[in-house]
Amino acid sequence: MTYCPFKRDNFHVIDETAGLYYVYSPGSITIERFENMANNIKRPNGTEDVLPKDVHKWYTIEKIARETAESYGFSEIRIPTFESTDLYMRSVGETTDVVQKEMYTVMAKETKFTLRPEGTAGTIRAMLQNGLLNEAMPQRVFYILSCFRHERPQAGRLREFHQFGIEMAGSSSPCADAEVISLAKTILEHLGIRNIELYINSIGCPDCRAKYHEALREFFGARRDELCETCRTRLEKNPMRILDCKSPVCSEIGKNAPIILDYLCDDCREHFEKLQSYLKTLGIEFRINPKIVRGLDYYTKTVFEFVTTEIGAQGTVCGGGRYDGLIEELGGQKTPALGFAMGIERLLLVMDKQGCDYLTPKKCDIYFAAMGDAALEKAMMLCKELREFGYRAEYDVVGRGLKAQMKYANKIGAEFTMVIGDNELNDGAAKLKEMESGKETLIRLDDKFSNNFDAIFIDKMLDSLDEAEAVKVFETAAQEYVHEHGHDCNCGCKEDGCNG
Ligand code: HAM
Repeated sequence: MTYCPFKRDNFHVIDETAGLYYVYSPGSITIERFENMANNIKRPNGTEDVLPKDVHKWYTIEKIARETAESYGFSEIRIPTFESTDLYMRSVGETTDVVQKEMYTVMAKETKFTLRPEGTAGTIRAMLQNGLLNEAMPQRVFYILSCFRHERPQAGRLREFHQFGIEMAGSSSPCADAEVISLAKTILEHLGIRNIELYINSIGCPDCRAKYHEALREFFGARRDELCETCRTRLEKNPMRILDCKSPVCSEIGKNAPIILDYLCDDCREHFEKLQSYLKTLGIEFRINPKIVRGLDYYTKTVFEFVTTEIGAQGTVCGGGRYDGLIEELGGQKTPALGFAMGIERLLLVMDKQGCDYLTPKKCDIYFAAMGDAALEKAMMLCKELREFGYRAEYDVVGRGLKAQMKYANKIGAEFTMVIGDNELNDGAAKLKEMESGKETLIRLDDKFSNNFDAIFIDKMLDSLDEAEAVKVFETAAQEYVHEHGHDCNCGCKEDGCNG
């Protein structure tokens, strides 16, 4: 009998797993389940765990985004999780919500560091520091990384979230803007996401922005007292930021504010018109939304967002634009650049909602149930061989009986099982059981074991496909082979590399 910290009653602990108490309390004769709030450390608000059962969804997005970006000539870059705080002050901007309210900053040995709230600033810093901007232009990089912003958590808005992003440096042409937008759209299409609207806008260059700021100062100045405290300070320093304020009063006032498109200089207007014409050439539908100003200060000219209405208020799955002044601001040569980032958690919300396809979760291909030490050693060796072939093979590492081992094989959804005991060792052969159909095939436990298993496994896989799917599998495998090894078939077909 133990003292219960929750009910202040006496109880018997029946089972305790991961902080959950299943208890029998004598008074009420019921079995109850308590969560041990006192001892369990919870993950911080606004963060998420990705469990093994869901990780294939992440692999799907990462694989498709990575491969699509590579097909557009982008290569991966990896950057630190934290940077000097000054980097974000100078790039994201001192008057943005991100810098003023949302950064996770620590003071470490007299230097201020900040967990990255986004990927662009760190990426440009890394490109500058490593001389990438002295190499062939344009430079094209992509990244998959975690970001940290202290925002109020809600569906699609987290404090730690993940982005897939790209940056391209070295082109001021509007066709680079079209190329980057086309890449974002293709990724969304390859993910199978539907009903996404593309909104574009131009927020001009510092020249046209100066006139626009004057107009905004006049407009918001007339209702200064109604603005939130932060926006009152923004009125002087950076009035465009008021348009991005999350306070309901400021955003209501902002609805009738002047729009930047009326203040664009000739160069910026021409750039914007040319972009629209390229998007039409590429068959990319878009809408102009003059209200898009983006929440980060570095943008110039083109800004864009891909938005869905299907996941609630946080419907922007991708945002980006041009930032022609940032590289110079961070100490480099004047170099035009642009990019975008997609929120991976938001993509997942849309994909789940729309029932998009994910890569098939990986399951155990074969489970060996072993009886006795000699059989266990045989199972170990066979697993080692099969793993070299690329199979997911398991055997019992807990020391369970045969029944419990088979129960476990069922639970993990093993495609095949094989029981090995003294008889099988003596015969030098054992039955391979296909779990779904119950079909059994005797295979020898000799040095051809892995090849024989491979043949049976591939047969089963092809049986489960219809003819068209099977042809596709062969074609893809052939293409992948040629891609990796070149054409070397001895068939006399005269393709490059054919020995025939
Ligand atoms: P951003 O609009 O701040 O832009 O973020 C890009 C995307 O990250 C958003 O569209 C959204 O999908 C996701 N996201 C942002 N905040 C959160 C959050 N709190 N929780 C979940 N998802 C979120 C940038 O970060 C720029 N660096 C994009 C860029 C790259 N511009 C040029 N190059």
